Amino acid sequence: MQLNKVSVDDINVKGKKVLVRVDFNVPLKDGVITNDNRIVAALPTIKKLIADGGKVILCSHLGKPKNGPEEKFSLAPAAVRLSELLGQEVVFANDDEVVGENAKKAVAEMKDGDVVLLQNTRFRKEETKNLEPFSSELASLADVFVMDAFGSAHRAHCSTAGVTEHIKDTAVGYLMQKEINYLGNAVETPVRPFVAILGGAKVADKLNVISNLLEKCDTLIIGGGMAYTFLKAQGKEVGNSLVDDSKLDYCKDMIAKAEQLGKKLLLPIDTTIAAEFPNPIDGPIDVQVVDADSIPADMQGLDIGTKTQALFADAVKSAKTVVWNGPMGVFENPTLAAGTHRRRRLRCGCYPARLR
Ligand code: 3PG
Repeated sequence: MQLNKVSVDDINVKGKKVLVRVDFNVPLKDGVITNDNRIVAALPTIKKLIADGGKVILCSHLGKPKNGPEEKFSLAPAAVRLSELLGQEVVFANDDEVVGENAKKAVAEMKDGDVVLLQNTRFRKEETKNLEPFSSELASLADVFVMDAFGSAHRAHCSTAGVTEHIKDTAVGYLMQKEINYLGNAVETPVRPFVAILGGAKVADKLNVISNLLEKCDTLIIGGGMAYTFLKAQGKEVGNSLVDDSKLDYCKDMIAKAEQLGKKLLLPIDTTIAAEFPNPIDGPIDVQVVDADSIPADMQGLDIGTKTQALFADAVKSAKTVVWNGPMGVFENPTLAAGTHRRRRLRCGCYPARLR
C-alpha cells in the first residue's frame, strides 16, 4: 500500500506562507533537549519547503501543560536546536497566546526560505479541545498547511485538525509519508509471524483497528486500559478498573472472531493494581500484582503484571513483524511503566510509529 495523499512534492510553495505541524515534543532536562530525534526527523520536510522558497511557519506542542503557558514547556530550546541543525536562523515567536504580536510580526517580515517557530500550541486551552478561535488564528498566518507530526496525527486538535477547516491547500510532509507507507506495508504484506499489540485507554477508539488487525495478524496482544473491558467480557471481576460497559458485546464478538479465524488473542493474565489512579500522574503510588481474575472490588488495574509481561514478551520475541499501538499501562508513572517499557526494550527498532 502506498500513500494516496497530496505530499510536499505535489505542491508549489514558492513565496507562500506554509504552516507546518511538526512534533517537537522532545524530552527536556533543566531546559536542555536530551534527545533531538524528533527535530531531526522533521528536517527533510522543512529543508524541502525552504529550498522551494516557502515561508516556513512551524508549530508543535510540547508536553502536557494543564493551565496555559508554563516556562518549562516553552519551545525555545527547540528553536535553538533547529537553527543549529539547519544552519540558518529560526525566529522563535514567543507569544503566550501562540498567535500573538510576536508571531504576526515575525510572519509579516518573513522572506522566502525563512523559518519561524511558534510557541507551544498547548499554551492555548482550545488546542486539545479543537475549539475556536485558535484554529482560525493559526490558519490566518498561512496559505498552505502541511501535516508532518506523525506522533500527533491521532489527535483531533486545533493544530492538527481544526486548522484544516480554514486552510484548504493542505499536504503531508515526508515523515508522515514515510510512516504511512511503512505502516501500510507492515499491515498489508507482513513478514510472518505478525504480532499486533494494542493498548491505551479506550476500546471505543479502536473498534475498526481491532477487527481489521485480527484479520491480518497472527497474534493480537491487548493490554492497557482497554484490556479490562475484554476481561470483564470474559466474565472476570475487574474491580474499579476502566471499563466501557457499552463495548462488552463488541469484545465478546472479537474474542469469538479470533477463535473462528484461528488467531491468538492474548489478554493480561495478571495486573498491577492500586486503590486510586495516580494523582499527580507521576506521583508516588502503592501497587500490588494480582491475577487478572482477582482484582478486588475497590482496586483498579493500572498496568500489566509480571506474568503478562513474560507472556507478551514471548509472543513478540518470535515475531517477524510487530505493529504496536498504545501503552500497556499508565506509563507516565515510573511505578506503572514496566509493562510498556518491556515491550519497547524488546522491539524498539521494529516499528517506531503509532496507530492510535
Ligand atoms: C507523543 O509524544 O506521543 C506525541 O508527541 C503526542 O503527545 P501527546 O500524547 O501528549 O498528545
